[in-house]
Formats: sequence, structure tokens, C-alpha cells
Amino acid sequence: SETGCLSIIVLGASGDLAKKKTFPALYHLYRQGFLHSNEVHIFGYARTKISDDDLRDRIRGYLGKDAEHVSKFLQLIKYVSGSYDSEDGFQLLDKEISQHEESKNSTEGSSRRLFYLALPPSVYPPVCRMIKKCCMNKSDLGGWTRIVIEKPFGKDLESAENLSAQIGELFEEPQLYRIDHYLGKELVQNLLVLRFANRFFLPLWNRDNIANVQIVFREDFGTEGRGGYFDEYGIIRDIIQNHLLQVLCLVAMEKPVSLKPEHIRDEKVKVLQSVLPIQDNEFVLGQYEGYRDDPTVPDQSNTPTFATVVLRIHNERWEGVPFILKAGKALNSRKAEIRVQFKDVPGDIFKCQKQGRNEFVIRLQPSEAMYMKLTVKQPGLEMSTVQSELDLSYMQRYQGVPIPEAYERLILDTIRGDQQHFVRRDELKAAWEIFTPLLHRIDNGEMKPKEYQPGSRGPVEADELLAKVGYVQTHGY
Ligand code: BG6
Repeated sequence: SETGCLSIIVLGASGDLAKKKTFPALYHLYRQGFLHSNEVHIFGYARTKISDDDLRDRIRGYLGKDAEHVSKFLQLIKYVSGSYDSEDGFQLLDKEISQHEESKNSTEGSSRRLFYLALPPSVYPPVCRMIKKCCMNKSDLGGWTRIVIEKPFGKDLESAENLSAQIGELFEEPQLYRIDHYLGKELVQNLLVLRFANRFFLPLWNRDNIANVQIVFREDFGTEGRGGYFDEYGIIRDIIQNHLLQVLCLVAMEKPVSLKPEHIRDEKVKVLQSVLPIQDNEFVLGQYEGYRDDPTVPDQSNTPTFATVVLRIHNERWEGVPFILKAGKALNSRKAEIRVQFKDVPGDIFKCQKQGRNEFVIRLQPSEAMYMKLTVKQPGLEMSTVQSELDLSYMQRYQGVPIPEAYERLILDTIRGDQQHFVRRDELKAAWEIFTPLLHRIDNGEMKPKEYQPGSRGPVEADELLAKVGYVQTHGY
């Protein structure tokens, strides 16, 4: 049932994620009419003993400039304080939610309870136990209880499976929404449409035509302020094992039977299960100079802040095509993109091959765009060729159409009960299987990352690896 009284409970309400992402996303949904004040109530829960107004004051600045609407929205929020493993706290929370449900006369409809865990994973198990014990939806008229959790889901295969098992004992898979916010990005959501609704791509999207695929994430700032968290995880766990791997799935998967979430996720799992073990000479790790100056980072830390890893998918479509996943902090730019490079044209009569190959680039951020790099005749009297682009820039083409924040979209999906853009348990397991052996070697100190200058392209060895697996640098963009 998707109607009736809705309670959204943000656990970890006074933390960073809640302030910067969760509450602003809820506010935008409210502003666009997806949350109606006559049926929605929002609860913040955390340990800090503060008042409703204190919480409202803390988040007000993150919501927007429209003071009147912001105030109205803030009035929907109530704060409950309690610890994450105390029955008292959760019983109080349940009482508050029930009161709200009664006041909204939920006998007319079912009651829906959405728990958003903006918390570190170490407290997921106790919090889930408490929710299960004290706070489940009790309406006889149907409704639901759903749990939203965020990465890191564990640190390796074993710990992730352990976490999954603990939570899985309490909640069924359809109640669990594992967020990977990259799945909420506009151009990531566009991937299936691009691939399966366009005749252009259907016959080309395979090993016969594609030379290599790069999925790249760059940030032009370091781990400022979160060195402690980051050092425990590193760039592979922070970005590659989840965000970039999810994108890889959508680029590489077969056409699903339908758009049903289970059909899509079935195909994603198959891709992950087809990835071969990472080869010793097919990754490069880096750490930027100055990373260890952060007082929260140990002096001897070997944690990579940069990595390039080549994945090989062992199936009929992709055998022999390297998928290069690259992510780094403190690089020369902030950008996330997918770069599909096509093979050379056989029997080139224009001698234009050295100008570069055809590429299809999907820029996820900033300035969403996609463009095709292609060879055309240089305008003029001479018969010479030049590389140019067919360019779809969202800012120009969809001027004035706002692109929703990833979190906004994903929370709305949760309310609607659509799990298409969430990570299923077997998907998570398969993702950890790929990276766990390499991660263990890094954790054991077997691997020393190469040092690179902040503001650079990362270690030169990464460019050498790219060239080695067949990427041909092109001109232009
Ligand atoms: C988070 C990582 O998941 O994604 C951060 O923990 C990273 O380290 C962030 O900065 C990047 O997200 P976005 O949406 O800004 O690309």
C-alpha cells in the first residue's frame, strides 16, 4: 500500500549525512509536492539531548532560501533523543510515531514507516533489532516498515556477509533499501534507456566494436576533515567497489526481461559474477603527497587515495575488453565520466587513425552531458580530416529543467517501494568477491601505493597501464 499516513524517521539526525543530504532531499520532495503535510511526519532520532527547535535550527541553513516554505517544512519535524541500543529510546520513538498516526486518523489508510539510518554501519545491527522489537508498523490495514541503509556495507566479503546475515534475520529483502547514491544520478539512470532504446548502440555494444571502457571518478580535493574515516576504508571501498562498479554493471549488463527491479538486478548480478580475478599487473595504487599530514591519519598509512583497476568480464559480449575503473582524491579536476572507446576502422583510407578513435563519453558530473567523438572532413577546399563531436549538453538542451539530487530520487523510490535503483544482497556479495583479495593484500601491507602530487593526474604508472591495455589517447576534450 502506497497511501496513508507516512512517518519518516531519520536516525543519526544530528550527523553530517542527515544535515547535508537526507533533510535537504526531504525538503525538496516536500517542495515538489511529493510529501503532503496532511499525511507526513518526520522524526529525527539521535543521542544528543536537544529540543525540536535545536534540530530545526541545525538543519535550516541547508534547506534553501525560501524562508516561508522552509519554516513550514521544519514544523513537520519532531526530535526524539535516545541511544541506539536502548529499548526505552525506541519505545519513546514508537509512541511518538503512533501518536502521529492516530492524529492523522490512519484508520482511513494504512500507516507507513520509513527508517533512514544516517549512521555508521557498526550500529546497524542494534538499531535494526530495536526497530524490529519496538517500532514496526502495527496498522491492521496494511502499510509497511522499510529500512534505508548506506555504505560502507562491511569492509570485505566476510564482514559484509556477516552484516547482511544479522540484518537479514530481522528484515526481508523487500524491506531493505541499500543506497548507492550513484544509482540516483540522472545520467546513470539514463544508461539503460541509452543502451536499450537506441538502435545506434545495439549492434555496436560488444567486443567486436569496443576496444575498452573507462569509468572514472576524480575529485580535486583531498580527504579534508574525514581522514579518520577514509583511512580505514581507502578509495577502493569508498568509491570503486560500489559507485564505479554499479556503473559498470549498467554499462555491461544484458538487456533485462523487463524493467521490473528483480529483472534488472538479476542481470547486474550476472555481470558481477562474470568478472575474473584482478590480475597482478592490472592495477595501480596511489597516495597523494601530504595525505599522512592529516593528524587523524596514521604516519605509516598505506591506504590508497587513488586506484586504477582493470576488470575483465568473462562472457560472450565482453571477453577481451578491459573495463578500467579509476578513482582518485586530490587530482587535477572534479569529474565523473564513462568513456567508451571504439576500435580502429579497418582499412583506413584517410590515414586519420592517429587523430584518435571514435569515443562515446557520458559525463555524469559536473555539467551532465554526452558526446560522441568522431572524424569528419575538415571544412574547406582540402580533403583532410579532423576529430569533432556530436554533443548533447544537458545545460543547453534542457535549459531550466532541474536535475534532481540523487538522494531525492532514491528516497522517493523508497516511499514508492521501487527497489530498481538499490543494491540487492547477492549483488553486494558479488561486488565484495571481486575486490576482497586485493583489499586484503593492501590491508596486510603487501602493497605500497605510489606517491603523486596533489593537483596532478595521479601516478604516471596509471597512464602507462591504460596504454598497456589498449587505450589510445585522443585529442579534443
Ligand atoms: C561518497 C564518498 O560516497 O561519494 C565520498 O564517500 C565522495 O568520498 C562522494 O566524495 C562523491 O559523491 P558525488 O556525488 O559528489 O560524486
